[in-house]
Amino acid sequence: MTTPILIDCDPGHDDAIALLLALASPEVELLGVTTVSGNQTLEKTTANALRVLEFVGRGDVEVAAGAEQPLVRPRFVAEYVHGESGLDGPSLPPPRGGPVARHAVDFLAERILGSDEPVTLLPVGPLTNVALLLARHPAAAERLGRIVLMGGSIAEGNVTPAAEFNVWADPEAAERVFSSGLDVTMIGLDVTHRALVTPTHAARLRDSGRTGTMVAELLDFYSVFHRETYGFDGSPIHDAVAVAHVLRPGLVETAHRHVAVETGSELCRGRTVVDLWRRTGHEPNAHVGVGIDAEAFVELLLERLATLD
Ligand code: BDR
Ligand code: CA
Repeated sequence: MTTPILIDCDPGHDDAIALLLALASPEVELLGVTTVSGNQTLEKTTANALRVLEFVGRGDVEVAAGAEQPLVRPRFVAEYVHGESGLDGPSLPPPRGGPVARHAVDFLAERILGSDEPVTLLPVGPLTNVALLLARHPAAAERLGRIVLMGGSIAEGNVTPAAEFNVWADPEAAERVFSSGLDVTMIGLDVTHRALVTPTHAARLRDSGRTGTMVAELLDFYSVFHRETYGFDGSPIHDAVAVAHVLRPGLVETAHRHVAVETGSELCRGRTVVDLWRRTGHEPNAHVGVGIDAEAFVELLLERLATLD
C-alpha cells in the first residue's frame, strides 16, 4: 500500500535530499510540499523547494508557503550551515513556477481532508506551520495518520549545547505539537548524527547520474560545517532519516516516551526533555528514535537517489 505524505520543510540541504528520497520511493505518494522559515527565509526556502522539484521534473508537485517567522520568537536563519541561498553548492536555476496562492496551513488541511487514506505529515523544519494547523484546522489535524518529525534530541544539541535547531527555532510551536495528543514520532540528533554520508558515498552519488551529481555538490558544501564543527567525516542527512523511517519501518528503533519542550529558560531553550527512564509518571506522547541501522539507511538513500534522472 502507498502511504500518502506531506512534507513541511525549510530547504536546506538535508531537506532537499529528503524531498528527493520521497520522490524516488514507490512506498509513498507526495501530496504536496509546504515551506517554513528556518534554514533560510521563507522566500528562499520556498524557492529552494521549487528548484529541487523542478530539477527532477516534478514541478507538478504543489508547493505552498507558510510561516515567515516563529510563533513568538524572532526569526533566526541557519546561513552558517546552509549558505546564503539556503542551498549553496550546486548551481540550480531559479524556479520557473511559484507557490500556490494558499497559505501552507490551509493547503495542508485541504490535502489531509481530501485524502482517502490517513496522511503521514513529515515536518522537517521548525514546527510553526504544524502548530498553526493544530490551531486553525483541528479537525484536519485529527485526521492525520501520524506525524514523523525531524527535530529534538535526547542527549545533545546542535544550535546550543541543549537544543536541536528545529525545536530551538520555534519551541512554543514544538511544545504544542508534542502535547497535541496526535501520534508523533521524533527523529532527533541521537539517530541522525549516527548515520553519516561520507565522501566515499558522495563519490558514488557523483557517478550515479545527474541528480546524484547535484546531491554530491550539495554535500560538498554541507559537509564543511560538519567537519569543522564536529570533526565528522561526512554529513548527517537529518531530514531524510524521517522519510526513511516511513519507507522502512524498523530502520530506526523507537521508544514510546514522554517528551516536554523547554520554553522558559534561555539556557535550555528548545531542549526536548525525553523521559527515557520513565521518571515522571507522564504518559508517553512520542515515539522517540533511539537507534538506527546506519548502513541500511545510507544504502537505501543512495540506491533511491540513483534512480532519479
Ligand atoms: C535540522 O535543522 C536544519 O538545519 C536541518 O535541515 C534539519 O532539519 C537539524 O537540526
Ligand atoms: Ca530541515
